[in-house]
Amino acid sequence: PPYLNELAAAEGKYFGTATDQPGTGEDTDIIYQKILNGTIFGQVTPANGMKGMNTEPELGVFNYTMGDVVVQIAQDHNKILRCHNLIWSSQQPEWLTSENYTWTRETLLPVMENHIKTLITHWADVCHAWDVVNEAFASNGTLSASPWLDVIGPDYLPLAFQYAHEAVQSTGKDIKIYYNDYGIESPSEKVDAVYQLVRDLQAQGIQISVGLESHFTVLDPNTFEAQSAVMAGLQDLGVTFALTELDVRFPTLPPNETYSYEAQAFRYWESVSACMQYSGCEGITVWDFADQYSWIPATFEGEGEADLYSADYTRKPAYYAVAEAL
Ligand code: XIL
Repeated sequence: PPYLNELAAAEGKYFGTATDQPGTGEDTDIIYQKILNGTIFGQVTPANGMKGMNTEPELGVFNYTMGDVVVQIAQDHNKILRCHNLIWSSQQPEWLTSENYTWTRETLLPVMENHIKTLITHWADVCHAWDVVNEAFASNGTLSASPWLDVIGPDYLPLAFQYAHEAVQSTGKDIKIYYNDYGIESPSEKVDAVYQLVRDLQAQGIQISVGLESHFTVLDPNTFEAQSAVMAGLQDLGVTFALTELDVRFPTLPPNETYSYEAQAFRYWESVSACMQYSGCEGITVWDFADQYSWIPATFEGEGEADLYSADYTRKPAYYAVAEAL
């Protein structure tokens, strides 16, 4: 079969996958390991290992164990590592929302700064990019609910990037700092808010990159044209971007209907093709590659089959459509 990352690399991009280890079953699945470690994927993202709840479980006490599992995979098999994520509304440390702490802007800001700077500094030699803030905007472009917003106020968002920028500067490395979100794959008020964030930070001398998560359904109206329009806007702003969590799930099917793997393949093709048009698009990451490890069924009831491989490791038409697009 075509080696997806080799095709991407020939065009100066990467093709990678999220992976969720340890403890999910992936780590003892020999076929999964063989595909993950091989040359099909040239980039990895820890699906959970670097999230706040795992990296700073106790206030001021950092834990790198789970993140290091994926760092090791990247190093052993010569893959680019995307680090994910520093500040989010979900999967945060318990202390952030615990009643045992009465946070104020004054007490929480240095904690946010320490979280961001400690992690960027610790993994500075291995992270190609960091998703600094994840999913901060609602669909109408206002800030969505988050404990960080509640306590610090709206400037938690630019401040997170300022701290990240300072941390990267002090390492002397070229670590890209990303704003990462879903639902920004076609023009909308949410996309406008992201563009504005980019401009505001550029005015402060801080250059960010933008991650288009790209969690689609087979019936999604996110066309090739719509995705291209968003990417053209980012390219015009002079920022780099990436598809960070691509998958295409099936909604619950009526009885007697079967999956149209061709329709799914076309959705994958559209997204990958859109990225390939732009020098600013760094690469593409699928949010894991085999259906039995996909996050979809646990999150969207009755939905699934979103990945490039079936649970028995048959490559779906989507796999070949991606190869064609690269
Ligand atoms: C998901 C993980 O894959 C799941 O294992 C976890 O239970 C929930 O989070 N957007 C993101 C990712 O930015 O961090 C999410 O990952 C999927 C949606």
